[in-house]
Amino acid sequence: MQKKTNHYFVVTAPGFEKICAQELIALGIQPTNMVRGGIEFEGGLHELYQANLWLRSASRILVRLGEVAARDFPILFQRLSRLPWGRFVKPEMSYEIRATSHGSRLNHTGRIAEVCGAAISRVLGKESLGVDPLQKIYLRMNDNRCQVSIDSSGEHLHRRGYRQVRVAAPLRETLAAGCLLACGYDGLSPLLDMMTGSGTFAIEAALIALRRAPGRERRFAFMDWPKYRPGLWQQLLVEAQREEKPSISSPILAVDNNPKAIAAAQKNLEVIGLDGVVQLSCGNMQQLQPQFPSGLMICNPPYGERLGKNASLKSLYHDLGRVYGNDFATWQGAIVCPESELIKTTGLSFFPLLRFTNGGIKVALLEKS
Ligand SMILES: C[S@@+](CC[C@H](N)C(=O)[O-])C[C@H]1O[C@@H](n2cnc3c(N)ncnc32)[C@H](O)[C@@H]1O
Repeated sequence: MQKKTNHYFVVTAPGFEKICAQELIALGIQPTNMVRGGIEFEGGLHELYQANLWLRSASRILVRLGEVAARDFPILFQRLSRLPWGRFVKPEMSYEIRATSHGSRLNHTGRIAEVCGAAISRVLGKESLGVDPLQKIYLRMNDNRCQVSIDSSGEHLHRRGYRQVRVAAPLRETLAAGCLLACGYDGLSPLLDMMTGSGTFAIEAALIALRRAPGRERRFAFMDWPKYRPGLWQQLLVEAQREEKPSISSPILAVDNNPKAIAAAQKNLEVIGLDGVVQLSCGNMQQLQPQFPSGLMICNPPYGERLGKNASLKSLYHDLGRVYGNDFATWQGAIVCPESELIKTTGLSFFPLLRFTNGGIKVALLEKS
């Protein structure tokens, strides 16, 4: 029997497509297309579960259920009713339908969603009862064609489950992991985050260094599908555990001058069982001296827009320039911040590895030349 092939779409934060495609390739999955905000691939449930379990920089993974042409609502209803909803939605499950429309005769997105709900009820024989869990369904009407996608991830993939405590302006886990991968971090050389906040870079670095699957502790939407294969999921978890290293091979150091940030990072490390793996300390980055001849230093300093503009930021970036350029001159140095005047205050030259948006602000992952 031929293996069933589905079309999948990995949603990424714009800017992280290449990094995520490289992650897919490392899993042995060949991307079939890359567009802004995502990557397409084909495969069976094995590839889908594997991608959800292992992708560090992805936001969520969708299954393309089908695409139907429609210029009026009766035709839309008829054609949506022919899609295999029963593969993904149980009659008692609640679902949420999100619709968008561009360049199409059908442009009332609320009505498009309603018609889809009616089609699902007809196929499954019942109304959604509004019982948890919630299955997300995405409809994208473009040029009079409606593309239907089913979410396989559930909660956004940045929710690894460890960030219980956060400090001001944290970086999403998926973005932090993507930045580390973009810097070529593989856990084989020391890592230092000198402004660690809630510890995101350090924790993601530890997960990479230990080869620990980022999704191993969480639930996914596909676990509630009628054709969920718990045996396959268990097999992937066992394989993931076999790949995991018992300890890191190079130190991971995390520093912050705010004791509340250190307490938050400590708590998050405990939640994920990594306390003792990351060396946390409270102090000013200005006072740091390298304990190793080389490594990767990465940080996400305050940059004003979110943490409140103040004059001391200029002097902070000036000091960053000294630490990156003199004290740690032999280290690979990366910073996540806007490409603004502030970064010029460092007196160093940086080039962008990635450009993306963090909390609505345009930022870049900059590497010291
Ligand atoms: C934007 S936050 C970092 C957020 C972090 N990436 C996360 O995901 O939670 C910037 C951090 O820099 C710290 N910081 C500011 N000045 C510092 C200094 N001179 N030395 C060390 N840490 C400093 C702040 O306490 C804050 O936690």
